[in-house]
Amino acid sequence: MTVHTATCTAPVNIATLKYWGKRDKSLNLPTNSSISVTLSQDDLRTLTSAAASADFQEDQLWLNGALESLDSPRTKACLADLRALRAAVESADASLPKLSQYHLHIVSENNFPTAAGLASSAAGFAALVSAIASLYELPQDMSELSKIARKGSGSACRSLFGGFVAWEMGALEDGLDSKAVEVAPLAHWPTMKAAILVVSDDKKDTPSTTGMQSTVATSDLFQHRIHEVVPKRFEEMKKAIVNKDFETFGELTMKDSNSFHAVCLDSYPPIFYLNDTSKKIIKLVHKLNELEGHIIAAYTFDAGPNAVIYYDEANEAKVLGTLHKYFAQVQGWDKKDASALNGGVDIDGVDPEIYKGVSKIILTSIGQGPQKSTQSLINEQGLPK
Ligand code: DP6
Repeated sequence: MTVHTATCTAPVNIATLKYWGKRDKSLNLPTNSSISVTLSQDDLRTLTSAAASADFQEDQLWLNGALESLDSPRTKACLADLRALRAAVESADASLPKLSQYHLHIVSENNFPTAAGLASSAAGFAALVSAIASLYELPQDMSELSKIARKGSGSACRSLFGGFVAWEMGALEDGLDSKAVEVAPLAHWPTMKAAILVVSDDKKDTPSTTGMQSTVATSDLFQHRIHEVVPKRFEEMKKAIVNKDFETFGELTMKDSNSFHAVCLDSYPPIFYLNDTSKKIIKLVHKLNELEGHIIAAYTFDAGPNAVIYYDEANEAKVLGTLHKYFAQVQGWDKKDASALNGGVDIDGVDPEIYKGVSKIILTSIGQGPQKSTQSLINEQGLPK
């Protein structure tokens, strides 16, 4: 049997200007543009192999070892778009195998625990689209492919690029201008680092899709955010990135996280994603910046209590040293030498038990976009290895 395969990896991205609100739910068209930093795939990535064969009986997906349904309208929309693009390639060259007509087997694995509550759907859909686009040898560029990933999960469109990425909301009803673009590549500002504090939480958070629908329908503050706050901040943040101006970038990042959580609170009934530990982390970062006299660390929180703290490598001793003072007992410090962690400062009023609310720390940095890989997860029969 002939099995055609391709394998790609894709990164996680963490927004510094948040996407929150859809103007079209089925196409995942947003109510505002957003910006993110792509994180290193050494620490967080999805690896996906895609295979097509005339002998496959149905489309199948294995996720972290378990067979998953491919029936969701979002996944179906991605597959339909990719098949249509492949069909166009085939009609231009009759010698090509008709992969667009074959069923697909997709095998996907994360290198981080899904349970950690880190947005895995962005990396997942970006890897799915990249692997199938590679299998189909599609000529489309990353921005074009980002429109397909967007239909899987809005934030996934930003995982098609490395470095600093903008998702331009677009204005068209069909979404053809709602796509990700590169603001600056990894090489522009490679010293950008991120410390992720995985905050323990037993309650189930409101899924982002339902949460944002509720905010759009009920929050007045949200109207102010999308019309007044974000359009201006979008331009300012891009400029701060181009100028490698951490102070401005950091301030805008923290303000936007707070603005997003404010519209969640202004939804009716209110949505709470931050817990007490998240709030203590916010205070700690503000006090550290105050002590320094300028911004050296910037927090951001998504639809859950985990904190992502961005900082420039130039301030690593101070930022990580201070985090280490308060979170030394948490796992995840092993990749740093003790000497890199003793530059911290004492901060007044930090709860000495703050570490109890954090289960893990992931020390990572800015990273690259999707990569082709030779590490196939699919065997010669087209099944998971
Ligand atoms: C708070 O992309 O997960 O992380 O489009 O419904 O799949 P869907 O939502 P999703 O929402 C992400 C929300 C966020 C902010 C962001 O990543 O910009």
